[in-house]
Amino acid sequence: MDHGVNQSRSISAHISRRRLLTASGSLALAAIVVQACGGQSPAAPAPTSAPPAPAATATSAPAAAPAATAPAATATTAAAAAAPAATPTAVAAPATTGAVLAVDNNIKGKLEIFSWWTSGGEVEALNATYAVFKKYFPNVEIVNAAIAGGAGPGGNAKAVLKTRMIAGDPPESFQVHLGHELIDTWALTDKMEPLDDLFKSEGWVEVMPKQLIDIASANGHIWSVPWNIHRANILWYNKKIFSDVGVQAPTTFDEFFAVCDKVKAKGIVPLALGESQPFHTAHVFETILLGTLGGDGWSGLFNGKTAWTDPKLTQALDTLKKYFNYVNPDYLSINASEAATLVDKGGAAMTINGDWTDGQFKSEKFADYGYVPSPGTTGIYDTLADSFGLPKGAKNRDAALDFLRVGGSKEGQDAFNPLKGSISARTDADKSKYGEYQQWTMDQWTKNQLVPSLVHGAAAKESWVTDYVNTMNTFAAKQDTAATLKALQQNCADAGGCK
Ligand code: GAL
Repeated sequence: MDHGVNQSRSISAHISRRRLLTASGSLALAAIVVQACGGQSPAAPAPTSAPPAPAATATSAPAAAPAATAPAATATTAAAAAAPAATPTAVAAPATTGAVLAVDNNIKGKLEIFSWWTSGGEVEALNATYAVFKKYFPNVEIVNAAIAGGAGPGGNAKAVLKTRMIAGDPPESFQVHLGHELIDTWALTDKMEPLDDLFKSEGWVEVMPKQLIDIASANGHIWSVPWNIHRANILWYNKKIFSDVGVQAPTTFDEFFAVCDKVKAKGIVPLALGESQPFHTAHVFETILLGTLGGDGWSGLFNGKTAWTDPKLTQALDTLKKYFNYVNPDYLSINASEAATLVDKGGAAMTINGDWTDGQFKSEKFADYGYVPSPGTTGIYDTLADSFGLPKGAKNRDAALDFLRVGGSKEGQDAFNPLKGSISARTDADKSKYGEYQQWTMDQWTKNQLVPSLVHGAAAKESWVTDYVNTMNTFAAKQDTAATLKALQQNCADAGGCK
């Protein structure tokens, strides 16, 4: 039985209805119809030929101020309510290939969105998506069901989501990493609707990189909408501390530890680490492995070409052990985001983490930071991507589909990503909306070797990630290299990756 075909038909029905509401999208509509029939679009509007946004509607868009502070741990209604426009009106046609978002007052009810985005940068970015959604679908009530601490196995978000999915009570949509987390945990277990038609009608097949669509796909269907592209292997540093100590950004492990020594000699903590929620040690070790094995060696850990008994594994663990000589002493009682705050407040010189740190620094109004690929990883992009899909049984399916349309749109991506620290999952991003780090890394993405992140769901199935993160959390507490090496080999065997 192919669930995909029937589900896709009803997505088409949803999209066709939406087309009728698009007052100014006739060019785009012609293009979409041709694309939907499998042809090339002769009339795909060039960026400059897109119809201008009607002034009246552009100014009536609700400006939902991103929350400057703390996360909504409990469900809250997001985005300021806007006075609904009297009639459906085309608004701010995105200057790009694909569908046009238009105001639709007929989409109503609750839209519950589930994620683990509760830190600075994450909250503002999510609110930016909500604000774009409310602009077009003002009569929908967004329920932000974000739960803190979900990235690692110690966190609640993934466990709560699983319980709800198994109980047949899915949210309208939820955050999920592209790659194995999406495919193995949700798509192949028949919990999601395929989104092939949505990708065609919105023009995403043309504007999203093939690598991303490929990792969102399995069994001939596409299962979720990429919201962003994140990079895991970045060393962030406090520029003032670096200039006070008189050091340059290191690129090799030798340079890195030389900088650590000089910073430590001045009485400053060199490296900020936060392991109160298991994850950061696993993340740092992922980057050390990458810097030790290289891109191909790293990828080989997941396709059987690199053995987990390789002597370089021991070398990488020795490097991690050395790393612990330079971390803040309270690393077991603060989390990774609090570790980044230490750098921002001058309490530590550096931290290795993904580029959500760029979003956090922006959120904390900290601008004096530098960044460089983590030691040994110049030219390599340790990649992950957040996405949202359509769970089977979503109560407000229409609103869920429109949420996905907003998230995948140029407008949605260019609202969310500049605040999140990630780059757009589309090739037509408006670069001027992004910060210095992001403009740099956008360029890197096109030139670097792309490899999948383990900790963030791309490289291996979720049970392996959980085991790996727990193994490294134990290392953080005990720093027992031999036991950790054995445990890592066992994790691989348990996941079926090491025969
Ligand atoms: C990642 C996620 C990012 C960011 C990070 C820290 O797994 O993809 O979006 O939120 O966790 O929470």
